[in-house]
Amino acid sequence: MSEVEDQQADRARAQDDGAPIASGSTDQDPADDHEKPARRRGKTVHGELANAGHRVLAPDDAEVEAYLEVALDAAAPERPHVDRPGGAVPRGEGSGGEPDTVVVLDFGSQYAQLIARRVRELHVYSELLPFDTPWPEIEKRRPSAIILSGGPSSVYEEGAPRPDPAVWSAGIPVLGICYGLHLMARELGGDVVAAAKREYGPATITFTDDSPLFAGLGREQPVWMSHGDSIVAPPPGFRPTAQTASTPFAAMADPVRRLYGIQFHPEVGHTPRGRDVLRNFVLGIAGARPTWTAANFIDSTVNEIRSRVDAHARESGGSGLVICALSGGVDSAVAAGLVHRAVGDRLTCIYVDHGLMRKKESELLRGTFEQNLGMRLVMVDARERFLARLAGVTDPESKRKIIGDEFIRVFEEEAAKLGRIDFLTQGTLYPDVIESTTPETKAAQKIKTHHNVGGLPADLRFTLIEPLRYLFKDEVRLVGLELGLPEAMVFRQPFPGPGLAIRIIGEVTAERLDTLREADWIVIDEIKAAGLYRSLWQSFAILTPVRSVGVMGDGRTYANVVAIRAVTSEDGMTADWAKLPYDVLGTISSRIVNEVPGVNRVVYDISSKPPATIEWE
Ligand code: XMP
Repeated sequence: MSEVEDQQADRARAQDDGAPIASGSTDQDPADDHEKPARRRGKTVHGELANAGHRVLAPDDAEVEAYLEVALDAAAPERPHVDRPGGAVPRGEGSGGEPDTVVVLDFGSQYAQLIARRVRELHVYSELLPFDTPWPEIEKRRPSAIILSGGPSSVYEEGAPRPDPAVWSAGIPVLGICYGLHLMARELGGDVVAAAKREYGPATITFTDDSPLFAGLGREQPVWMSHGDSIVAPPPGFRPTAQTASTPFAAMADPVRRLYGIQFHPEVGHTPRGRDVLRNFVLGIAGARPTWTAANFIDSTVNEIRSRVDAHARESGGSGLVICALSGGVDSAVAAGLVHRAVGDRLTCIYVDHGLMRKKESELLRGTFEQNLGMRLVMVDARERFLARLAGVTDPESKRKIIGDEFIRVFEEEAAKLGRIDFLTQGTLYPDVIESTTPETKAAQKIKTHHNVGGLPADLRFTLIEPLRYLFKDEVRLVGLELGLPEAMVFRQPFPGPGLAIRIIGEVTAERLDTLREADWIVIDEIKAAGLYRSLWQSFAILTPVRSVGVMGDGRTYANVVAIRAVTSEDGMTADWAKLPYDVLGTISSRIVNEVPGVNRVVYDISSKPPATIEWE
């Protein structure tokens, strides 16, 4: 291969990160200690100013969506009643209606969401509900099984969270995990006490019975434990099914009532055969049908969106126009792909090219949506406008404010050209919809769970279509692949709304943007070539305001210093600097210095968050 072809091949790699696609491959099991109250989850920018400088736990696209809401003068969105589980649950093929469902009751464990995700990896739809969801709400979902999560409380404490007692007598299989096991023991007449010694971390469990829950597993298994309480007497009707060195009741079962309890955590990666235990329960004991697949989700969601938009058009005499703001991120891309399948040309996507995107991103977007999918795409070239407003600005928060403000202006102009808009598509994800259910947050949570939000404000000019509000991020990616979206879009690392502007320290100019874009391209290219892209939360370049002396050929140079940042993280709240191999760093450095004019030095950021943040501004 010639050098030029080599370089072309290198560039192609930047669009395709070769790592295998596996459901749940993005998981990073929480490696921290024991059962703690779940973190506050699902903070979105809804209801906040678009440029409030939010940082994490929002969909990649939340910022752009918020700009659009502000531009359209919409109140913070409330969900129309048809768009919520129970009203319009996504269907699974062959199920003759709604998919078989597993309800996970959340007792405040940091792993509660992970349980729901693990069940979905078995292709069975699962919903996470607050621990005290009234039985009629649970029954409405016709669950094939119920799982009780762990939690930080002790069952013998006053005010310890408890489920509706109908859970025990409904004849539906129940699996209690950790705190869920203790609840099962205590509520049904057994005894639970504080153990003399907490059991935390890896342990070996011995199965003492032929329980169907442990079918196909060897008698001894490594498991993950995290508890301070133990069962000392199982309730009447139960028999112990497993033990560890520290407890004779590490699992129990009442097969007649189909009630099962386990002390260990099958949902975490530290329990290697945990998925098999969940599979035995969900598919075996409960007999749920595995119909929850990306293809079935797409079919049912597309039908549902189409009937909603058609019905609206019939009733209002309107044309049922839908808009969607594309940000370049995966959530808005997948949401737009689904809506486009449902309503075709009645969907218009708006993409504001603010000139702060990475190299080739706008082209990828145009190629995918306009050329490949034939979508109606309004691509606004606003690069000059943004540059003009950013001229001379060095303060990071001022940059954010200006970018948010200009975005809103551009959207307002474009939306006005479209006429009456009936629907707005948003890429809201399931973790943004479900609420924390720790006892402390219970009061606030009562007011606004996703099952009892109020009606739409009277002056809302459009209703929301949120086709991803049942999905976890890994599922969004699988749906994106099934829709035929390019991998470079589906597996894109998070990228901040203000784009490269907050990665240029100091003034943003066209020239500095070009320098950063080229350096950033090389970082991503080499990280992808090394097969590391998907294992990193983010990896990128920063253009520092520092100039340093260098030597090139016979002469001295005085040029820009570029910094490289690569971090691993679960959710962006905390992050570790990535231990990139020296040879990868070396190649990145020499390529940047050789290929990017005006850069003579590259440094690697070895700070973790906290105390540093991921972005430099
Ligand atoms: P920090 O720098 O706060 O970033 O550790 C955490 C995550 O948030 C992203 N980020 C932003 N996203 N608008 C956004 O949409 C912003 O102004 C912004 N600032 C940081 C950052 O990329 C990381 O994923």
